[in-house]
Amino acid sequence: MKVSIIGAGSVGATTAFSLAKSNLVDELVIVDLDERRAQGVALDILHGLSLTQEVKISSGDYDSTVDSNVIIVTIGVPEKVGESRLVPLQKNADILKDIVPKITKASPNGILLLVSNPVDILAYFAQQISGWDPSRVIGLGTTLDSARLNYLLARDLDVAQTDINGMIVGEHGDSQVVAWSQTAVKGTNIKDFLTANNIDIADNYFTDIAQEVKDTAFDVWEMKGPNCYCVALAIERVVKAISQNENAILPVSQPFTSKEYISLPHVINKNGAVKPIELGYSNEELAKLNDSYSGLVELANQIQL
Ligand code: LAC
Repeated sequence: MKVSIIGAGSVGATTAFSLAKSNLVDELVIVDLDERRAQGVALDILHGLSLTQEVKISSGDYDSTVDSNVIIVTIGVPEKVGESRLVPLQKNADILKDIVPKITKASPNGILLLVSNPVDILAYFAQQISGWDPSRVIGLGTTLDSARLNYLLARDLDVAQTDINGMIVGEHGDSQVVAWSQTAVKGTNIKDFLTANNIDIADNYFTDIAQEVKDTAFDVWEMKGPNCYCVALAIERVVKAISQNENAILPVSQPFTSKEYISLPHVINKNGAVKPIELGYSNEELAKLNDSYSGLVELANQIQL
């Protein structure tokens, strides 16, 4: 299993560290415009491998990513407060136009995992540029938000995070939708779980938690700079589904009704995101999902590819 990470910023570097310790990959390649930085990240991890496990790690250019099984794209221009989302979006589309052909040429059979934001739109653009089957161009999407939801519910219910099955769909961003109808504690829907266990919640609990999922990501950013650990673990989860051919169901960004991308649960295995999974969303959730999608399409349509 060869994985290439494009971008050696905090997300790329943390992902490299996390994958190096994951037992999931044999070889990691780190690519960055700043070659010395990529080399430094690789070397920093290499220095510690005698203390943990053997993995081949190097830095290099796109040629060194040849025949990667998974290529993770973490580079991009971030949104600035007060600036239109269109400005960084156009810049990121331009970056993808430059790098995606280099990636696909080096690894024609790989799987592209987009992480840079706005991830739903960028994953869609990467698919358009690559011409690859969408199953092989995946956006990390709301796997990350769903993990944050698991944390918040576990905190409040005093149970293990791994026993919560939180499901957030839609945009990885403001218009995301918490699918409470599909959010469960050990298989029991959250609402039934609260009733069965006589747990009282505040009137606005569900709305407040949906907001907290978004706010808590921003809080981390304010406290310590870019979020990277949770992101790296979400990436590792998707890489695990691919490398172990798991058929795991994860909410990732893929075409919605065969068109542009949005996050919905998909089966993920060694061939990528091979099929969407239909869940019984409520009508309210479906309406919000459609709104989330329309907003993304409107934004994407303003960009010159
Ligand atoms: C997140 C952003 C940065 O951490 O995508 O959710």
